[in-house]
Amino acid sequence: MKAADLAEGSISAVDIDGEHVLLSKIGGEVFAVAGTCTHEEADLGQGFVLDGRVVCPLHLSQFDLKTGDVVTPPATDPLKHYKTRVDAGTVYVEV
Ligand code: FES
Repeated sequence: MKAADLAEGSISAVDIDGEHVLLSKIGGEVFAVAGTCTHEEADLGQGFVLDGRVVCPLHLSQFDLKTGDVVTPPATDPLKHYKTRVDAGTVYVEV
């Protein structure tokens, strides 16, 4: 994916090597966390962004998009966090 295709404050779910990954851009940086909610496996790509957090579309748990940490329940387990880098405008994710 091109970094320019990811708008500031937006999310995009992609599948990489069998992993469902949620990309986001915050403060011009690209972040990647698991794209499946740890509560009941909802697709976080269908969620929405609120102040640097993704809100699960099913029961509204919130996760920090930079770290994957749970911000609000009912989820209790954090999302897996992946390292990212942008090289020549292309986003790379270490899965
Ligand atoms: S499936 Fe995400 S909060 Fe329940």
